[in-house]
Amino acid sequence: MRGRLLYAGSFDPITSGHFDLIKRASKMTPELIIGVLDNQSKTPYYSVEERCDMIRLATEEFENIKIDSFSGLLADYVKKEGFEAVIRGLRATMDFEYEIQMAQMNAHLLDHEVETIFLMTSPDYSFLSSSLVKEVFKLGGNVEEFVPKSVYDYMVKNRK
Ligand code: PNS
Repeated sequence: MRGRLLYAGSFDPITSGHFDLIKRASKMTPELIIGVLDNQSKTPYYSVEERCDMIRLATEEFENIKIDSFSGLLADYVKKEGFEAVIRGLRATMDFEYEIQMAQMNAHLLDHEVETIFLMTSPDYSFLSSSLVKEVFKLGGNVEEFVPKSVYDYMVKNRK
């Protein structure tokens, strides 16, 4: 791909599954933007600044990755920034219904000019989600192997 790609999500927090996808997507484009949703109506566990900080720590080694946040419609953000395509991860079968709805709605909102590209999540992480990681972590379980090392250290240091 010649243009910039957007990998959008809540990343509350970034998991090893997200990180694996970021690594793979970064090879497909000159510039990968990780767009963190700043949703005013939903209260995330980590603030948008904390989520961006954790992604920054995890992706320090990559030269073609930028971290940004957005609010409002993803389609408006894509139009404003001129991304070539949007990347999303798919885990086994469970994400399909929701993802196809979003992809089709975004295609409609973007006049079918921007594609959503799906990368299959690595089977090593197909059971992982940010919600599960948060739940296990909050209840004192060990999530060390489910998030990048630097993110784990951040979570422990900033335990709420
Ligand atoms: O990591 P998530 O929570 O699955 O990511 C979902 C995200 C951020 C991609 C989606 O909720 C989104 O695009 N939100 C912005 C608002 C919007 O555009 N909604 C209509 C989607 S068709």
